[in-house]
Amino acid sequence: MKTKYDHLFVNTYTRVGPPMKGGSGTYLYDTNGKEYLDFASGIAVNALGHSHPVLIETIQHQTELLIHASNLYHTQPQIDLASILIEKSFGDKVFFCNSGTEANEAAIKFARKRAKKQSKEKYHILSFSHGFHGRTYGALSATAQEVFHSGFEPMPQGFHYAEFNDIKGTEKILDSHEFAAIIVEPLQGEGGINCADPKFLKFLRKYADKNYVALIFDEIQCGTGRTGTLWNYQKYGVTPDMMTLAKPLGGGLPLGAVVCTEEIASAITPGSHGTTFGGNPLACALGVQIIDIVSDPVFLKSVTAKGDHLKSKLNEIARVYDSIEDVRGEGLLLGVRFNTNPEKVITDCRKNGLLLVKANQNTVRFMPPLTVQMEQIDEAAKIFSKTLENTKT
Ligand SMILES: Cc1ncc(COP(=O)(O)O)c(C=O)c1O
Repeated sequence: MKTKYDHLFVNTYTRVGPPMKGGSGTYLYDTNGKEYLDFASGIAVNALGHSHPVLIETIQHQTELLIHASNLYHTQPQIDLASILIEKSFGDKVFFCNSGTEANEAAIKFARKRAKKQSKEKYHILSFSHGFHGRTYGALSATAQEVFHSGFEPMPQGFHYAEFNDIKGTEKILDSHEFAAIIVEPLQGEGGINCADPKFLKFLRKYADKNYVALIFDEIQCGTGRTGTLWNYQKYGVTPDMMTLAKPLGGGLPLGAVVCTEEIASAITPGSHGTTFGGNPLACALGVQIIDIVSDPVFLKSVTAKGDHLKSKLNEIARVYDSIEDVRGEGLLLGVRFNTNPEKVITDCRKNGLLLVKANQNTVRFMPPLTVQMEQIDEAAKIFSKTLENTKT
């Protein structure tokens, strides 16, 4: 359905309903004063909900101090955020940018530069079916979904695709060219909430080690506490060479990062990559608070408990409706997969005061703020169930 503002914008999104005006905790409010339980979280961005007091205070403080200085100089928030990311992950070095697609773009470039040390032909990149890595040409080429490429061809060369979780097929493709990198989401978000098989990730690690291939985990959606561990890779006991982050990292401001090993970083020299805004002090100051709060073991435990609770509620609902195939995902990144297109369910849930997001063609994504309350989970499940009762899918 058209809104009265659509004529103002390039038609990249089907925006719905009245404009959003404000938010508090797990709630969003539109300009008509309607209240929504926000289980979309700005597409997995608002990890601490809306108007979190620590984020507001940090914005006020940092805005008075310094908003932008460029990457010609160090700034304290950048130093602090890099330090905390390194301290709390496998990484030795960090590169900051402004978004998820830029983080993946940088990771692909870093991998190619490193691989060139070994062979001129070692530039191929492998990614997987149902993965999503962004919209700029490198990240888009790594996104193994034709629908996103359509009309934008020719795509850059050197990108190859294998079936997610298929070890044999993946090995065959890897053996067919000289690969610089493998990029994978350990838990696929946009592609329908698909968890990696631990054996698959272990195989990728082993292959990458043996063949001088950089292993990149895209944790833009599944990282930063969303699945109950600070990083999703920690669940698998498989450590990447690079991890890309964005979405919740800037507390709602644009911020992306590549966290990598010393060995990867050693391929990069001044001037070989850059960004004017990346690692902006205001966004980084928020990033420090986000990581500080989210990495607290008590906080992470609460994410797991709330995720388990939401999953069991959704499973209860799934047992009632034949149109639901299964409930998937981990922590607070969950999907309800339908055997039909669930667009109408999402529209009707919004009308009934619950915001959800589609993933792939058949899955409804539940990704509330990590600060969501148990009662709000019960309330969301009630709205979802009531909506299903009255919606023909
Ligand atoms: C796993 C993953 N990678 C990359 C991206 C791209 O991030 P951005 O939209 O910030 O460019 C997304 C966005 O949905 C994502 O989910």
